[in-house]
Amino acid sequence: MKGKWVPSWVLSVWYIMLLCRYFHNCSAFTLPMKEQSYFGTMIFLLDGNVYPKGYYQVVLNVGQPPKPYFLDVDTGSDLTWLQCDIPGAKNLPAPHHPYKPNKNFVKHNDAICASIHGANPPGHTPTDQCDYEIEYADHCSSLGVLVRDAFQVKYTNGTSIAPPLVFGCGYDQEVPRSGHPPPYTDGILGLGNGKSSILSQMSSMGLIRNVVGHCLSGQGGGFLFFGNDIVPSSGIVWSPIVRASSEKEYSLGPADVLFDGQATGIKGIPIILDSGTTFTYFNSKAYKTLLSLIKKNIDTKQLTDAVEDKSLPVCWKGSKPFKSLKDATMYFKPLTLSFTKAKNIQLQLIPEAYLILNDKGNVCLGILNGLEAGIGDVNLIGDISMLDKLVIYDNEKQQIGWAPANCNNLPSLSW
Ligand SMILES: *[C@@H]1O[C@H](CO)[C@@H](O)[C@H](O)[C@H]1NC(C)=O
Repeated sequence: MKGKWVPSWVLSVWYIMLLCRYFHNCSAFTLPMKEQSYFGTMIFLLDGNVYPKGYYQVVLNVGQPPKPYFLDVDTGSDLTWLQCDIPGAKNLPAPHHPYKPNKNFVKHNDAICASIHGANPPGHTPTDQCDYEIEYADHCSSLGVLVRDAFQVKYTNGTSIAPPLVFGCGYDQEVPRSGHPPPYTDGILGLGNGKSSILSQMSSMGLIRNVVGHCLSGQGGGFLFFGNDIVPSSGIVWSPIVRASSEKEYSLGPADVLFDGQATGIKGIPIILDSGTTFTYFNSKAYKTLLSLIKKNIDTKQLTDAVEDKSLPVCWKGSKPFKSLKDATMYFKPLTLSFTKAKNIQLQLIPEAYLILNDKGNVCLGILNGLEAGIGDVNLIGDISMLDKLVIYDNEKQQIGWAPANCNNLPSLSW
């Protein structure tokens, strides 16, 4: 007999707790694991705006030694990728020199590769490098190969870590010729809840809770965070994430649309939240209904159609150019998304959440017809409708929450 005797039930409880930590899904063991204090939070400053830039970006330091890259924040996709310095690469103009891979290619037998291609895709041996191809709703695309390298990130308590994370090294980026100009960016930060997202990777390493949130300021900028430490314990409206079979998007569903608090006839439309989309899109039928309601409600003494203004499909001008968005929004009514599966869950869209002021001093509708825009009959809530709100995607509790917030102020750890 060596050492101390441990009753076997102690071992099995310990083992179950270990499994629970691994799968993050046994609520019975949350107390012993001290989850609130064990996991930290990371906060990143955002740069960008809805108009004229059309995107929100974060700076991430990647590689050894770390180099800075600008990445578009996209909750509508999983995989993070950077434009890559590979001979013959077809890259788009970007703020930084492309990422240089260093024989750090991920192989087909890697779990992350399997999460993209399935366990044993035909035509590949386990030691093949793992390629990827992503096409976004706007038909922009990136093709490349997966690599693993250090991401330098910092907890709010000041401790820096550099976990090795898998991301795409993109060597063929395409943008449709007819669409909007591509964002001036080094890559995309995918924050969907699939296994390949860097958030899921850090969460399965036990570094962070699988919770991500953003606060996009209407004045530009804002912040992004990983972890649940700064989530306020009250004042947030929570709605369950609805998961369609293969979709990794953040879907809330179904909702009725109200105009100035009144029913519009738009009922039960499934809603997707997507920070990678600048404007908000509705399916063709809902869009037409909304547009005619908004038009009917317009005071034609104050606003007239600006048909010559092509910045967006629908623009209005005042008797003289508007100096601020506020001067124009007083002529518009609020919209409400009222989720039908749960009581009292509403997303309020004040006029500032669906209108922009453009460089001509006209006010334009930031809600577009998904079908006409070529992204299909979808209902996507984009950046414009999430401004000045704290939006939290909690992949552990499978819910999304939101609350009005001042996104110009960084959160302190005690709200
Ligand atoms: C900061 O937080 C992280 C994650 O919770 C923890 O691992 C680290 O030890 C903390 N550092 C300090 C200095 O407290």
